[in-house]
Amino acid sequence: MKKHWWQEVVIYQVYPRSFKDSDGDGIGDLPGIIEKLPYLEKLGIGGIWLSPVYQSPNDDNGYDISDYENIMAEFGTMADMEQLIAEAAKRGIKIIMDLVVNHTSDEHRWFVEAKKGRENPYRDYYVWADPAKDGGVPNGLGSTFSGTAWELDEASGQYYLHLFSKKQPDLNWENPQVRQAVYDMMNFWIDKGIGGFRMDVIDLIGKIPEKEITGNGPKLHEYLQEMNQATFGGKELLTVGETWGATPEIAKLYSNPARQELSMVFQFEHMGLDQEPGKEKWDLQPLDVGALKHALARWQTELGSEGWNSLFWENHDLPRIISRWGNDSRYREASAKLFAILLHMMKGTPYVYQGEEIGMTNAPVTDISEVADIESRNMYHERLAKGFTKEAILAAINKKGRDNARTPMQWDATKEAGFTTGTPWLAVNPNYREINVAAALADPNSIFYTYQQLIKLRKEHPLMIWGDFELLSTPTTIFAYLRRYEGETWLVVGNFSDDTQELHLPQFSVLAPVIHNYPEKITSVAHRLLAPWEAFTVKVREE
Ligand code: GLC
Repeated sequence: MKKHWWQEVVIYQVYPRSFKDSDGDGIGDLPGIIEKLPYLEKLGIGGIWLSPVYQSPNDDNGYDISDYENIMAEFGTMADMEQLIAEAAKRGIKIIMDLVVNHTSDEHRWFVEAKKGRENPYRDYYVWADPAKDGGVPNGLGSTFSGTAWELDEASGQYYLHLFSKKQPDLNWENPQVRQAVYDMMNFWIDKGIGGFRMDVIDLIGKIPEKEITGNGPKLHEYLQEMNQATFGGKELLTVGETWGATPEIAKLYSNPARQELSMVFQFEHMGLDQEPGKEKWDLQPLDVGALKHALARWQTELGSEGWNSLFWENHDLPRIISRWGNDSRYREASAKLFAILLHMMKGTPYVYQGEEIGMTNAPVTDISEVADIESRNMYHERLAKGFTKEAILAAINKKGRDNARTPMQWDATKEAGFTTGTPWLAVNPNYREINVAAALADPNSIFYTYQQLIKLRKEHPLMIWGDFELLSTPTTIFAYLRRYEGETWLVVGNFSDDTQELHLPQFSVLAPVIHNYPEKITSVAHRLLAPWEAFTVKVREE
């Protein structure tokens, strides 16, 4: 199997609005990212997935694009963008652009034209439908952001489709002109020297709205193969699709090199495990750690050589992992390091979301006025109308709301965490005085250095990239697995709990330590009492 740079590196996700503000307007920007490149270089990453920086009215924080070939004024200019690409390249860091092409903003020129009437040449760039017989919405398709996915255009009497907000009309991928326009835009960015694309809700582009099919439509893979040929194919770029409904079988369709589609996909099976089956993301059940282990292990073994995994715990849509499944108070440091070790030791390309490397936590709110995210706000109003209590809704937002991960990056203990000299667009988490980059860099035992060490180990040990994976059978809340490569075996163990637990793995003798989140040296795993959230990797011999 051909080896690629994107299998060997670790990618860091920057959410530009919240990363670093350079001009005091309270909003992160491109010069702010450039300023922090030395920090990212120190961490050791090889690429930045940059959440959208294109021109946008910000109904969904940049995921509603009004001009793909211009930069949002709040973030800077195209010259800043070119400088970011160049400065990052000097430090061995490639820029991965967020490609949002399931929909545009309703303020995009194409949609402004399309709304002018049925005869407009851009009309067919979007998805339109006549009212149902009763005069209401064309069918039952719902928006991810609550309510129907159809919005009436009064002027023409037709509805347009928006699987997200009504300011995010869906593009009609069946129209070859739409596809060509997207490919031209992708080539515009490829010519600027970017390292690839993260493809927003890419599994929706093959939708058949009249049949209420949205994800995994019949022409999805045909379009991706066409896109590959027309744009990044053969250019050694990283392409990662956001695919909520992917199973390992589906992931192979996207990422089997023989099919010439994408490098890899983000799968979300493990991310749904604390959600009540058949309900929404807000309806929670306790995490079954056994189910988590088995889901991750299945992805590790099933792709084989017919695909490649992406590994992540966090992104800008998900809560902070230590608040979600770890312990963000007493065992914050230990549990953050456990998540780091368990993830980076698996097979696939690891992604780190800004702030994860210093153990940032969720940011609870007490009133809806403190919430910026459109998804949470819409859900709040929808559920209030359905009779839910405010308390129950806010509790759900505090657990799963997207603002949890979007509070400003905590750089130091000065006012507003050193993120801005002005007023931040979203309140800084009050724990910034303890949890911040400056404090992490000053403490040789900090979470930051665990991430740095993991990234360094990956550069030194091909086993971490290419080794086979085997899940070991251990008590439910101990996650233990092996990686094997060219005669060498590494054992990875994590105690997924607040309690001490006994580990019995007499079949291995320890040859050398690799990484550990507690200070003492591990010499044996035959009988070992694991501390709360203890995690380590050791090189072993199998007896
Ligand atoms: C993806 C993005 C999310 C956005 C949505 C619509 O899920 O990650 O932030 O709201 O697509 O573009």
